[in-house]
Amino acid sequence: MKYAICYESRTGNTAMLAERIRQILPADDCLYYGPPAEEALAAELIFAGFWTDKGTCPENTAAFLSGLEGKKVFFFGTAGFGGSEAYFRQILERVRTNLPESAEVRGHFLCQGKMPQAVADRYEAMEDSPRRTMMLENFQKALSHPNEEDLAALEKAVREMAEA
Ligand SMILES: Cc1cc2nc3c(=O)[nH]c(=O)nc-3n(C[C@H](O)[C@H](O)[C@H](O)COP(=O)(O)O)c2cc1C
Repeated sequence: MKYAICYESRTGNTAMLAERIRQILPADDCLYYGPPAEEALAAELIFAGFWTDKGTCPENTAAFLSGLEGKKVFFFGTAGFGGSEAYFRQILERVRTNLPESAEVRGHFLCQGKMPQAVADRYEAMEDSPRRTMMLENFQKALSHPNEEDLAALEKAVREMAEA
């Protein structure tokens, strides 16, 4: 099946996921690899990647998703706040609302992604509170992601979809 990998990545985390998907699928079937673009619409299967911005995908990705009439879609992405499947599910549900009804979601994978130091600086400047502590701990936890374990889990999700 011909496929395209479209993704948005500001700081490189989601790009790591996109690269792993590219590595494990047959190169001959890849019609497009890069930021969301019309060229990708020639493919039957779209790998749509995003970083999480205010709890959902960036606007450019949302607009791209709304044009995926009749496509099979695999979502992948990263979020600064990880560790909870419920949180990831919420993000995916929001992102999914951008798809037309005729699109079919074939799989998904989200993991945590490190954030820039400026984010920690902002937390540091806040008055001490349990919320501030939680956010600083989360920042530290995010620093090592996506890691090899995340990429292996992504690979598994992609292979399962391909074999289904
Ligand atoms: C402006 C901005 C807004 C963000 N909003 C969220 C958010 O709402 N939820 C979240 O979990 N992470 C949020 N993040 C963290 C990023 O989604 C996370 O670091 C992601 O891995 C970045 O991916 P990239 O390296 O592919 O750009 C935000 C980051 C930035 C810079």
